[in-house]
Amino acid sequence: MMDRLDVTEIFEGISFPGHLHTLESLQFAISFPFQDQDILIVSYPKSGTTWVQEMVTLICSRGDPSLTQSVPNWARAPWLEHYYCASVLGAASIIYVSRNPKDVVVSFYHFHKMANFLPEAETFEEFLKKFLMGTLSYGSWFDHVKGWTCQTATLENLLHLTYEEMSLDLHGAIKKVSSFLQHPLLEEEVNNCVQHCSFSSMKNNNMVNYTLVSDHIMDHSKGCFMRKGKTGDWKNLFTEEQNHYFNDFFKSNMQDCALDFVWEV
Ligand code: A3P
Repeated sequence: MMDRLDVTEIFEGISFPGHLHTLESLQFAISFPFQDQDILIVSYPKSGTTWVQEMVTLICSRGDPSLTQSVPNWARAPWLEHYYCASVLGAASIIYVSRNPKDVVVSFYHFHKMANFLPEAETFEEFLKKFLMGTLSYGSWFDHVKGWTCQTATLENLLHLTYEEMSLDLHGAIKKVSSFLQHPLLEEEVNNCVQHCSFSSMKNNNMVNYTLVSDHIMDHSKGCFMRKGKTGDWKNLFTEEQNHYFNDFFKSNMQDCALDFVWEV
């Protein structure tokens, strides 16, 4: 049985796992000097971050998997924990990836079981309440999504991508991202990207499935990082009552934001 490493740090009102981030590293992240050619992938946890890291690496390598199969994803796309956008507006290409929040909370719940750097997951009922209240590590999903989409909707250097659109049409999503990055690809190169960032390829690629991370940090006996990769898995965990409560909460908290999510496919 691994001891948990859940030291929590509070930074600007948001809790972070202190085992991974210090107050200094978070301060460094929010004042990072981005340059125009930088590509920034931004997301609330469990929204498809790793998937987009793989996609962007493959697009930049024209579909050649040599890099994605030899260098861990965290070395190709380092974490900055840049949760707030003010200082990057105007520079860099920003890809904001979101996912329907019912699947986010379910994925995050399962992740808490294996991720020793996060607090122990309690019952799903408790976890869901904390998710809606914004008191889990990394803060409120609502603030994150609204801050990066509704309040930045007109930015030319920001592309909003969703987990669900990648699931429904990975080929189309890759073309959309490659065009946004001004990195046009031949059809064959797009097909190679599709193949190498499919769920089964990524699940079997040690450079991106987090099996290189020690059990001390992620306990692989308790679950896989590449868990299911599906849209609509929330239906397997939410009770009818939790679903009603969630829907009401969502409706009243997203009144000022017209985003539409796909909840199942
Ligand atoms: P599940 O737990 O629902 O399976 P993040 O990288 O932001 O932490 O998101 C992790 C989630 O994205 C996990 O969801 C993981 O399985 C899913 N994911 C990662 N790569 C994927 C892929 N190629 N296809 C579908 N889902 C993927």
